[in-house]
Amino acid sequence: MITEHESRITDHGLRITNHGLRITNHGLQITDYNSRVHCATIGSPLVADGSPAVAAADGDGHRSFLGTPARGGRMHVVVNAATSADGKLSSRRREQVAISGEADFDRVDRLRADSDAVVVGVGTVLADDPHLTVKDDALREQRRDAGEPANPARVVVDSTGRTPLDAAVLDDAATTYVCLTESAPVEQRLDLADRAELVTAGDERVDLLRAFAALQNQGLEQLMVEGGGELIFSLFDAGLVDELSVFVGPTIIGGRDAPTLADGDGFVADFPALELANVERLDDGVLLTWRVADGAGT
Ligand SMILES: NC(=O)c1ccc[n+]([C@@H]2O[C@H](COP(=O)([O-])OP(=O)(O)OC[C@H]3O[C@@H](n4cnc5c(N)ncnc54)[C@H](OP(=O)(O)O)[C@@H]3O)[C@@H](O)[C@H]2O)c1
Repeated sequence: MITEHESRITDHGLRITNHGLRITNHGLQITDYNSRVHCATIGSPLVADGSPAVAAADGDGHRSFLGTPARGGRMHVVVNAATSADGKLSSRRREQVAISGEADFDRVDRLRADSDAVVVGVGTVLADDPHLTVKDDALREQRRDAGEPANPARVVVDSTGRTPLDAAVLDDAATTYVCLTESAPVEQRLDLADRAELVTAGDERVDLLRAFAALQNQGLEQLMVEGGGELIFSLFDAGLVDELSVFVGPTIIGGRDAPTLADGDGFVADFPALELANVERLDDGVLLTWRVADGAGT
């Protein structure tokens, strides 16, 4: 049964909620809480490899991209971040700030080791130049023993190919995917193609539904997103997040222009609902684990 409470025409197209039918730039979204498959999105026409992007999420919050996956599996997207006690990812200078302690670093390392790919926005690459590899030798060994590459793949969401060619994510420690748009200049594409697998999805800004469908087609199903705030907001907006882990550290960063956990345009209605799954004291802060209740952004 599709329940309807509201409809309006927005910049994103015709929207009929809560949480039924939605026609957006991404296509048609149908939500039905009374069936196991409660959300289906018929995405914009094609993903990079020419397959139709059709996504669905079941009642357990697992998403699968119907029509695209080569292996028929399920995608699970975990967003992980560390914030100050006032919810900032870093300072207004957008430089990396040490928020986590050792126990949280170890936890993040384990989460990476359990993932098929670690995803960041190009803003994070430019600000922090992260390597996004597994640091613990034993964890890398375990991955090898399980027949996996020592490190998960790395994914950069980067509309126009701004990732510097000497960025740490482009070294040969792991396969790297750069998700670009049609507007990425040919020169950048050629340079990046020497160091990364390129996924084209969207015209001006990376179409995350299509990009993630293409990633799933490559067998990348357990995705860990490590920021930053712009990308995290867009993923919630696209309904792609299953789980959110936030380490809240014992410091105040402040600043109205400092990045927060979810930046972007922000929601003004239909705020994504979270269910608290776990609370744990860690280092001198707290680790909050949330499950996304209804696919978000609907
Ligand atoms: N504390 C933590 O856990 C943590 C983790 C990561 C980062 N950080 C901090 O966060 C800051 C960087 O975050 P940020 O928000 O500026 O950058 P970001 O989220 O890493 O990257 C955002 C950029 O990605 C590109 N992009 C392409 N398609 C997009 C889409 N559909 N939605 C959103 N973005 C898209 C856009 O650049 P183009 O238009 O050029 O494509 C956009 O500006 C840094 O200060 C870093 O230190 C903190």
